[in-house]
Amino acid sequence: MAISSAPGKVYLFGEHAVVYGEPAIPCAIDLRARVQATARDDNRVRLTARDLSLNGFTVEFRGGHGDRPDVDVPDVLVEAAVGYVDGAIEHARELAGGTDDGLELTIESDIPLGAGLGSSAAVTVAAIDAVAREFGASPDKEVIADRAYQVESSVQSGEASRADTYCSTMGGVVRIEGSDCRRLGEPDIPFVLGYDGGAGDTGQLVAGVRSLRDRYPFAHATVEAVGELVERGETALADGDLAEVGRLMNFNHGLLAALGVSSRTLDDMVWAARDAGALGAKLTGAGGHGCIVALTDSSSVKTALEHAPSCEAAYEADLTPTGLHRE
Ligand code: MEV
Repeated sequence: MAISSAPGKVYLFGEHAVVYGEPAIPCAIDLRARVQATARDDNRVRLTARDLSLNGFTVEFRGGHGDRPDVDVPDVLVEAAVGYVDGAIEHARELAGGTDDGLELTIESDIPLGAGLGSSAAVTVAAIDAVAREFGASPDKEVIADRAYQVESSVQSGEASRADTYCSTMGGVVRIEGSDCRRLGEPDIPFVLGYDGGAGDTGQLVAGVRSLRDRYPFAHATVEAVGELVERGETALADGDLAEVGRLMNFNHGLLAALGVSSRTLDDMVWAARDAGALGAKLTGAGGHGCIVALTDSSSVKTALEHAPSCEAAYEADLTPTGLHRE
């Protein structure tokens, strides 16, 4: 049996624009997904998932029944979740020399599914590592990050950046620009997250931004403006200037809203956090629904979010330096 875990993430800056080669700065947070892999004697794969903000489900595939699990979430999310795991297993088998032995996989995750906190990247990273190790391989982190990116890219029809998977594998704050991925460090940054209880469809949201960018020169320029903002954000972070980081987060949220990926619930939570004194607040991840991230260590921001009508849950989250971890 092999167990691996990997963290979720928030974007300080740069989601969506990173898909077009602009820089982005995501940062790993202390919510994790854990994957346990145990080889089976037959060639079936049995997946049990718990806590993916679902009631939990079990599904067998590849030589199994392939039944749709009986859970109250949109098909597209369940298909994507199973797609990430299936892709992860395929890559892990390859890393281990091509075995087709069966597998028992158990996934436990603290990270809400489709909420912009990198649940799919965390599950994919942890699954590739746990399965590869269970089959006798021991790939290094760079290899895991690259394989996890390939899985995300194929599930998201080629529309993925390396940001989520690299951040989840390495932990800390990272900077991504195309295939140039670097760890910036592990500064002490306090976050409060607001969650509207919903989920965004990453593929659809990315496609929406692409079509605006193709259609309007000013949408193209908006994507480039996000890149410029990220450069300034990197300097502010290096200087420890959290007030400037917060201002730039606010600006980034405005640009994401212009690109059509915010929503009433996300905007409401952003304003609740700002009104309560957060240094900055923005949506995180693909958008649509899901989470906002507020830069603050004030408990009044969490309380304000808990009372905001659009907010289903608020969490304090800290940056974690621990990426992929073998347990
Ligand atoms: C999703 O968490 C972030 C996006 O930028 C897509 C990606 O980078 O793959 C929207």
